[in-house]
Amino acid sequence: MTSTIVELGPVTLRSPIIGAAGTVGSVVDFVGISTPAAYGAMVAKSVAGTSWTGRPAPRIAPAGVGMINGIGIQNPGIDAWAAEVGPQIASAGVPVWGSCVGTEVEEFAIVSKGLEAAGVEAVEINLSCPNLHGHGLIAFDPSAAAAVVSAVRGAISIPIGAKLAPDASDIAAVAGAVAEAGADWVVVANTARGAAIDIETRRPKISGYVGGYSGPPLKPIVMRCVVEVRRAHPDLPIIGCGGVVSGEDAIEYLMAGANAVAVGTAHFAEPKVGKRLLAEIVRWCRKHQTGSVRELVGTVREW
Ligand SMILES: Cc1cc2nc3c(=O)[nH]c(=O)nc-3n(C[C@H](O)[C@H](O)[C@H](O)COP(=O)(O)O)c2cc1C
Repeated sequence: MTSTIVELGPVTLRSPIIGAAGTVGSVVDFVGISTPAAYGAMVAKSVAGTSWTGRPAPRIAPAGVGMINGIGIQNPGIDAWAAEVGPQIASAGVPVWGSCVGTEVEEFAIVSKGLEAAGVEAVEINLSCPNLHGHGLIAFDPSAAAAVVSAVRGAISIPIGAKLAPDASDIAAVAGAVAEAGADWVVVANTARGAAIDIETRRPKISGYVGGYSGPPLKPIVMRCVVEVRRAHPDLPIIGCGGVVSGEDAIEYLMAGANAVAVGTAHFAEPKVGKRLLAEIVRWCRKHQTGSVRELVGTVREW
């Protein structure tokens, strides 16, 4: 019997697979078409202090073998979210994590308090919001990222993760700053900025033109990010996230030093992907006489 339990800092997960934010709805509305038992946790779509309408359609489009999205973090605001989702969290059948976003440092703290009060088990801080004081992505700037994490750390007592950007110029420096500010783990990573054009209409494929690129082509880029963060911070818990579509993909992240793996885009084509991924991981472990998934973490060999 292969153990699928992994440790992520202060949290023990029954499975190394996590449902990535924005790809599993509010979790409570997704579990019915999914396979919640296969996941260690699922992360609800990011929520802000007030309702955001998001960008106009089209907001999502295929781009090569990946996908580009520019949703603009449409969300109902924390109060409406807590009223609607909160009462269903305890019966979701999977640990539910919240994801907070905002345009001001204080907004992140307010949202995280609302998420904690609503009953989530952990809060992910989405640092890939482009709007904070008009300065690029928070996740590009170690001190801006640390300020947000520190405010959230001061506001709530449940575990927190900081979600980083794969196109930061020095992701290891950002990871160090958020860890210092109190993040229990880092999520490596969000989408990478991308763009795509429909050459027949000559219009961008999404209304915002530049959006977040996700799916299989992201994996080697995010793997590089995991390698850099793991080398710089040997003890910092990491969730690897980018392009996972198979158990083998997840194992690659674990070997590189990720403690768990989040899956996003794969849910759109295959809502029950979590069950398949976990079965593939377990099959690989059996074939390679590995009694526990956690034994895989960081086992990459020197060339
Ligand atoms: C349609 C869509 C919506 C997303 N919304 C969010 C979000 O609300 N908050 C967040 O932190 N990440 C969001 N993401 C990013 C994913 O959680 C994930 O980090 C990214 O897609 C990379 O993983 P993947 O290649 O497995 O999709 C979204 C991704 C997609 C495709």
